[in-house]
Amino acid sequence: MDLSGRTIAITGATSGIGEATAVMAARAGAAVALAGRRADRLEEVAARIEEEGGRALAVPTDIAVDDEARAFVQQAYEHLGRLDVLVNNAGVMLLGPVMGADTSEWRRMIEVNCLGLLWCTHAALPVMAEQGTGHIVNVSSVAGRRATLGAAVYNLTKFGVTAFSEALRQEALFSGIRVTAIEPGFVETELQGHNAHKDVVMQATDKMKEKIGQILTADDIASSILYAVSQPDHVNVSEVLIVPRGQPG
Ligand SMILES: NC(=O)c1ccc[n+]([C@@H]2O[C@H](COP(=O)([O-])OP(=O)(O)OC[C@H]3O[C@@H](n4cnc5c(N)ncnc54)[C@H](OP(=O)(O)O)[C@@H]3O)[C@@H](O)[C@H]2O)c1
Repeated sequence: MDLSGRTIAITGATSGIGEATAVMAARAGAAVALAGRRADRLEEVAARIEEEGGRALAVPTDIAVDDEARAFVQQAYEHLGRLDVLVNNAGVMLLGPVMGADTSEWRRMIEVNCLGLLWCTHAALPVMAEQGTGHIVNVSSVAGRRATLGAAVYNLTKFGVTAFSEALRQEALFSGIRVTAIEPGFVETELQGHNAHKDVVMQATDKMKEKIGQILTADDIASSILYAVSQPDHVNVSEVLIVPRGQPG
């Protein structure tokens, strides 16, 4: 895959899928802009990319804050000279029953998974339209296609991301912009570790891992993102559902 001369802005690049995508895209020749709240981790990823001869811009950003999300996209465009791809990857998954839930967790998921993605997209679209080309990649989930017990609000956010991606694809094609939804199954990352009931979630996660066998790596998802963005201009990979072979649902 050759992404020389391309520029890619990636949210949630401090760990997991976003970090893997940044490193892989840079190795393929793209200049990358990285967003995430943990500035130290972001700088580390950028430094690693630069040590390997790539080009990376670290922009510490909380995408749940409208102005910060927009500033990230603007800085990516201004520093890298153009904006070919925006990967809306940042997300949180806070699981548990609806009844008695800590509703601040719902707000956080909606603000990051949905609104953060919307702020970045809203800032990127005019830039891409002006260029006459661009690509928005939204990281949704299997949880955006199938609802499961204990994931109700996470499901709500990811169903939203999948639906938004398809509607945006239909709208944006008139501006020469492509839109892709990536829907991973179970991937080994830090995602599960943010739950308040970490022990319960980790136990359930371990059981699931035993049943599935080998789960996906962040690199597996980065590869499918790079596949989508490296297609010829007339090809829009609209949706990629990618699960471990042993994952039933
Ligand atoms: N792992 C899976 O099994 C799986 C399956 C399907 C879909 N996904 C989706 O994949 C995406 C990436 O998750 P991951 O699995 O790679 O988990 P991860 O390692 O926990 O990465 C999540 C990323 O999102 C960032 N983030 C969270 N809140 C943010 C905020 N307010 N502003 C900016 N960045 C924020 C985190 O950075 P900071 O904490 O530094 O801000 C981190 O870089 C998510 O959208 C997730 O829903 C994951």
